[in-house]
This record gives sequence, structure tokens and C-alpha cells, in this order.
Amino acid sequence: APILLADYTPPAYLIDTVHLDVDLRADGTVVTATLACVRNAGTAAAATNPPLVLDGEELETLEVAVDGQVLPASAYRIDAETLTIATVPARFTLRTKVRIQPDANTQLSGFYRSKDGYFTQCEAQGFRRITWFADRPDVMARFTVTLHADKAAYPVLLANGNPVGQGDEADGRHYATWEDPFKKPCYLFAMVAAKLDVLRDTFATASGRTVQLAIYVEPGKLDQCPHAMEALKKSMAWDERRFGLECDLDHYMIVAVGDFNMGAMENKGLNIFNTKYVLARPDVATDVDFENIDRVVAHEYFHNWTGNRVTCRDWFQLSLKEGLTVFRDQEFGADTHNRDVARIREVRGLRAAQFPEDAGPMAHPVRPASYIEINNFYTATVYEKGAEVVRMIQTLIGREAFRAGMDEYFRRHDGQAVTCDDFVAAMSAASGFDFTQFMRWYREPGTPRVTAASAYDAQARRYTLTFTQANPKASDNAPYLIPIRVALFDAQGQELEGHSRTLLLTETTQTFAFDNVASAPVPSLLRDFSAPVLLDYPYTPAELTLLLAAESDPFNAWEAGQRLATGLILEATAAIAAGRAPVWPESFTAAARTLLTGYEARGAAFVAEALTLPGEATLAELLDEVNPDALHAARNGLRRHLAEALHAEFAAAYAALAPTGPYAPSADQAGRRALRNVCLGYLLERDAPAERQRAQDQYAGADNMTDQFAALAALANANAAARPAREAALADFYQRWQGEALVVDKWLAVQAGSRLPDTLATVQRLTAHPAFDLSNPNKVYALLRTFGANLVRFHAADGSGYAFFAEQIKALDARNPQVASRLARCFDRWKKFDAGRQAHARAALESLRDHPGLSRDVGEIVMRALG
Ligand code: ARG
Ligand code: ZN
Repeated sequence: APILLADYTPPAYLIDTVHLDVDLRADGTVVTATLACVRNAGTAAAATNPPLVLDGEELETLEVAVDGQVLPASAYRIDAETLTIATVPARFTLRTKVRIQPDANTQLSGFYRSKDGYFTQCEAQGFRRITWFADRPDVMARFTVTLHADKAAYPVLLANGNPVGQGDEADGRHYATWEDPFKKPCYLFAMVAAKLDVLRDTFATASGRTVQLAIYVEPGKLDQCPHAMEALKKSMAWDERRFGLECDLDHYMIVAVGDFNMGAMENKGLNIFNTKYVLARPDVATDVDFENIDRVVAHEYFHNWTGNRVTCRDWFQLSLKEGLTVFRDQEFGADTHNRDVARIREVRGLRAAQFPEDAGPMAHPVRPASYIEINNFYTATVYEKGAEVVRMIQTLIGREAFRAGMDEYFRRHDGQAVTCDDFVAAMSAASGFDFTQFMRWYREPGTPRVTAASAYDAQARRYTLTFTQANPKASDNAPYLIPIRVALFDAQGQELEGHSRTLLLTETTQTFAFDNVASAPVPSLLRDFSAPVLLDYPYTPAELTLLLAAESDPFNAWEAGQRLATGLILEATAAIAAGRAPVWPESFTAAARTLLTGYEARGAAFVAEALTLPGEATLAELLDEVNPDALHAARNGLRRHLAEALHAEFAAAYAALAPTGPYAPSADQAGRRALRNVCLGYLLERDAPAERQRAQDQYAGADNMTDQFAALAALANANAAARPAREAALADFYQRWQGEALVVDKWLAVQAGSRLPDTLATVQRLTAHPAFDLSNPNKVYALLRTFGANLVRFHAADGSGYAFFAEQIKALDARNPQVASRLARCFDRWKKFDAGRQAHARAALESLRDHPGLSRDVGEIVMRALG
């Protein structure tokens, strides 16, 4: 049965303090928990002496005691998910002793084994897999933890907070005690018992305190830690500067683990990270990896205030911390890398993942109203659309008022578990802005579509823009409050002074007038992507070409180019489906040439983005029925056309952008590499041995993973004649990097994402390769999720991709439902395809639905997909 936001009730009992004693033994780990419990006086139920009901999962209960008295089995009831004690005093101490089996924990939720030791993941509901507890974020307690383990095997014993004791015990064992001075919900609990190397540093806060920093990694990997450490210090300094938020801890630790379901976790003072977002060295990590590490380290650090100091009342409020923290990490990324390109990439990501989600069976509001399995709601909507909603708040009230709103939020709610309404109320108090209508963004699923029309009255020198909004997925037709940044340009590409504004669309249809406009202008709408909407305006190719060349807002300049390319690719898709040859107008080629030859002025990073055509998944969303083969052929046709028409320009830019000094992951260098590798990709579209050689030379000569991998990827997607070169490069790459797990992931992904026709067979073969491991989430994501996102190959007309996928999901579901469920999402858009494909997809989904023992996680996705 679904869990409903409307059913929220406060906890019947609160827990003030928690003492955990965790004893790691060969036959399992014994956890003794001592909880100081108190009836929650503020609730209606308090007068009725409610029973104590705690959450637990896969716990072997050894003992239950209240106020020191061991209870007979008849005094409590245990079922699959709860421990119930019918009568307890208003204030009491509960002691439970359970045994858990971390070595058998393949779900990687709770306390589990990985290569170098034991780690935890408690968000959202993993803590109940460690001990009996009120596993909900509005129960906040102060934790003290003592770990005992074999000293030689697990020399590092960590938990949240400060180390307050340690020592040796009999039989070569040792212990460590940690005390967290801050109360926290149990989802922020963490502990580690492992053999790890550590990189240490310190950070001096603005107020003059010293924070001890430590990054723990697999032995031998210390030389891959410095970038993450720098990112951590940069994040701490940035949050002080931008938001006046200082680190409140004496110890801030990051632990990297190779088996991890998600990206990283913000446990108080003891972040646990997927190795993917910690480890980097120029020869093993790409520019994008370096930047992602910055962003994720910052994200988890920023949670210390937005998530930990102020947390969520319940899981429906997840975007309270995630949307806000993504917005913060985006701003950090923009400030520390390249703001223009950051925004473009954010929107590209939103359109590739969130728009399809919002249009499909998993559509849900930023604040969902119901869920079956909360882990299914760590989504692009909660995270990325949630960040867009926070960004709109800043757009509406301005940066200064937003900062005042943040201050007000912490002034009101520090130490509390609150709701999205509380956040917006603080913003409203600080700015005076009325957000009543705006709250619709939190409430409704679906992407609003805004249709714009313009009129120019030469006599009156008046220009008008009329906007109409609609969202068929919403529960009613009420309008959203939508900030739309606009500028006007004259026919020469000059921005008209005094006419750049942020329009507030509040009605279903609304007209805005611009006076003293000398001639019919070209409007630039939704600058900087000021709202997460689909915007229709009948631009002519000439107008888009003008904006691409003249717009000073980099997002909208890029957007104009994407609109041009989208129009051409969709027309070509229809042509190809009808057996006609596509036509590519000279004006588009000319615009691309101008970009390419003008990269010094416009910035290589921008030009790289502008020359990257919209992705197939994004394009597919614009079609009622997708013919993936025609779409794929059309997009590649345009690439090939540009490659032929601009061969000389691509070759010249490729040569001019050659590296001049040693590698550094700086924004400037990364931009130049990105553009050079875009050029390489285009050059390889031609069937020419010289181009193959160019890629092979780059592959062999690169001193960094960015360039080496770009060459490998170009070869992996090259045409049939490049087969021998492709296979040789792939074999060499594996040979060279088989000892680096994260590089092997790249090797799997580049093959699973390949456009070659036999990709499914390759992926099937790779599932049996020693490099693949169904129990490692990174391997599963690299090989299987990449394949599931390979539009043309996953959606093969004969259903082979679907059938293969369903079997993989079943195998995985038995071990790790969270990861299986993420794979199942690849079926989301099955109804956008033709009847033949739909029949195959339905069969695959039904076989999943009927699979015995299917998890709640995958079950929810499949039931929604089947409708
Ligand atoms: N709070 C983490 C982050 O965004 C993500 C943890 C998600 N875990 C999960 N099991 N769904 O930083
Ligand atoms: Zn987060």
C-alpha cells in the first residue's frame, strides 16, 4: 500500500540519546543499542499511552530490555518490519541486542561488506537494518558509538563526530568510541571498520577554528586523493563566502568505497562516497570526472547545513534538502569552473533525464504526495527540477533577498526537521514576496508548456509578447507563476537597450508590452533557462541564426543553435522514415563554421557545447511516436554532413587546439580539450584512413585520460572500416587499465553506449567477462544502464534489448533491489514507440511483474510503467 503525505503524524516517542555498541565477529555483528526514549508530549496520541513501535529489517533479535529489565518474549511482538512493545512508561531506556550479517548484505543498504572492510548506507531507511529504531527523519538523537573489531584486519574504526576513546582488547582486537555532539536523524548515521589509507589536511574557518580533514581510501590510492581534498577546502571556503555558513565540526571525514548504490552520502562528519566521486589522477580521470568530484564533494559538504543542521520532517520533503543542495552545488560549480557552460550542461541534463521522467509513468511532483518505495524517489525531479525551483525563487526575489532568506531559514529552523513550506516561508519573510501561487511548482507533476506569440505595431512602436501556459499532467488547469527572462534584438543583432526584463507570467494567457521599439525585434525568450518549461515560439531559422551569433546570454545563444539543429534532425527523421533523403541547408553549415572558426572569441567550452547536437533521448521527447532507427540515422546524417562540409575547419581547429603544456583539470584547458575532442569525433565521421590514424595517434600519445578516452570513444563508434583499429584500442585499453576499477567502468560503458549494430551481442558477452560483476553497482551502471540509455540499440525492433534487460533485472533484483529498480527505469518511455516494439516491451514488463519474489522497488516501477 502506498505511503501518503496526507497521512503524516508526528512520532509517538522521541529518542534523545543513542548508545551503540557494535561488535564485529566472524559469525556476524552484534549491535547493542541503548535508547533514551520519551513519549512525545505534543501529540494527540500521547494521552492514550501508545505502544512503542520500532522499525527493523533482517535483525536477529537476541534481547529486549526496558529500564534494565529483560522482557520475556510475550511482552513484545516482532514481525517482518516492526518491534512492538504494548506498554511502556512515559520515559524509559530501551536496550536491544541484535545480530546482523553484513557479509550477506548484498543490498548495500545498512551495514555491509565491501573489499576493504565494512561500511554503512542508511539513507533513506538503512538504519533499521542495523538496529531497532524509529527510522524516520523527524526523530533526532545524539549518538555515541563504540566499535570493536579485529585490529589487523580493520585498523580503521570510524563513526560520526569526535573520537573520544580507543584501545586494545583481548585476542588482537581493538575498539574506538565516537561521540557526535549534534543530534541527528538516523539516516545520517555512519560507521566504518576497514583497512584504509588516509590523506589528512586542515581547514581554518572564518571564525578561526581548525577542522581536521581526512579522506580514507583503499590502500595504495593516496595519490588519487588530492583533488577531492582541494575540492573539500574550496567548498568550505565558498559556503562561508556565499552563504556565511561555517563548518561546525572538529573532524570532517570522507571515506571512499567501491561498492555503493548511489553517488555519495552526507552522514554527519563522516561522508561515505562512491570511489567514482573521490579518486582522480590525470591519467585515470577525465575533465568531467574532475569536475564531478568537485560538485559531489561540495554537494555532500553543503548538506551539512542544508540537510543535516536543518533536515526533512518526512521523506516527501526530500527536495527540501536535495533540490536546495543541488542548487548550491550548481552555483559552486558555476563560480569555480565556467558559469556559461555549467548552465548549458545543467539544462542538457534536465532535458535528457527530468523532462522524460515528467512526461512518463514515473512523473511525480517535486514534493511527491505518495510513494511505495522511497528509494524510487531519489529522482531527477526531486533533485534537478527541485534545484530549478529553488533557482526560480532566487530569480524572483534576487540574490540578496535569497541570501537573507537562507539566513532566516537557519534562524528559524536550525536543529529541526521541517517541510518545503517552511523553507519557502522563510524566503517569503525575508523578501516580502508572496509565494502562494509559486507553491504549485512543488505540488504538480509534469513540465508546463509555454507557447509564445508576438506582434509588432509599427505605428505605436509597440511590441507585444503573449504567453499561454498549459500542463496536461497537472491535477487542474490553474496557472503557474513562471519567471521568463527576455531580451529583444534588432535585425543587426543589437540587443535593444532597456527592454531586457524578467516577465512574471501568472495567468493562463497573458500579454506583455514593450514600448518605443523602433522596428520588429527578434525576442530572446527564457534567457538563462529562467524556468523549467517547454517553450514554443515560431522562430524562423534566420532568427535563430541571428541569436546564435549575437545573444550575449550564453544559454540562449546555445539554445538557438539547439533549436536549429532540432528542427533539421526532426525533419530529416520524417524524411528518412518516408524513404526520402534528408536535406541540410547551407545556412546551418555556415553557422557551425562561424562558431568553429570563432572559438577564441566565444570560448572553446561554449563552442564545444554549441557543436554538440541534441541527444537522441531529448529529441525523442519531441516526437509523438519515435522511430529510433530513423532518428538515429538523421542525427548521424547531420553529423556526417557537417564532418564533410567543414572538414578543413575541424582539422584546423583540431591542430590549433593541441595541448601546449602539462595537463591540469582547469576550466580553460578542459574547454579546449572538449572542443578538440568534439572536432575529433566529427573528423572520424568520415570514412578516411587518415582520420582513423588521427584517433589512433591521439589514443597512443595522450598523457591524460580525457584525450585517451575521447579517442577510444571515437573509435568505438566509428564505421565498419575502423573495426580493426577499434578492437585493437579496446583490447589495449583493458590490458592497460584492468587494475583500475573506475577505468574499467569506462571501458564497459564505451562499448555499451556504442552505436554499432552488434552492441547488444557485445553487452551480452561482457556480462560474462571477468571485468563485469553484477554485485558491484558501478559495473552494473556502466554496462547495463548505459546500454538501457542507448536509444537505438536498447529499443531494437525485435525486442531483443528488452528481453535481455528483463533477465538482467531479475538476476539483480534478488541481490540489490535499489540498483535493479534504477535499471527498470530504462523502460519508462516504452509507450513512445511503435506497436511492435510496445508489444515486446509489454511482454518484458509483464514477465517482470510476474517474477516470483519481485522487490517492492522494481514492482513499483513496473506497475507504474504498465499503468
Ligand atoms: N543524500 C544522498 C545525496 O544526494 C543520496 C543518498 C541516496 N540514497 C538512497 N538510498 N536513495 O547526496
Ligand atoms: Zn544530496
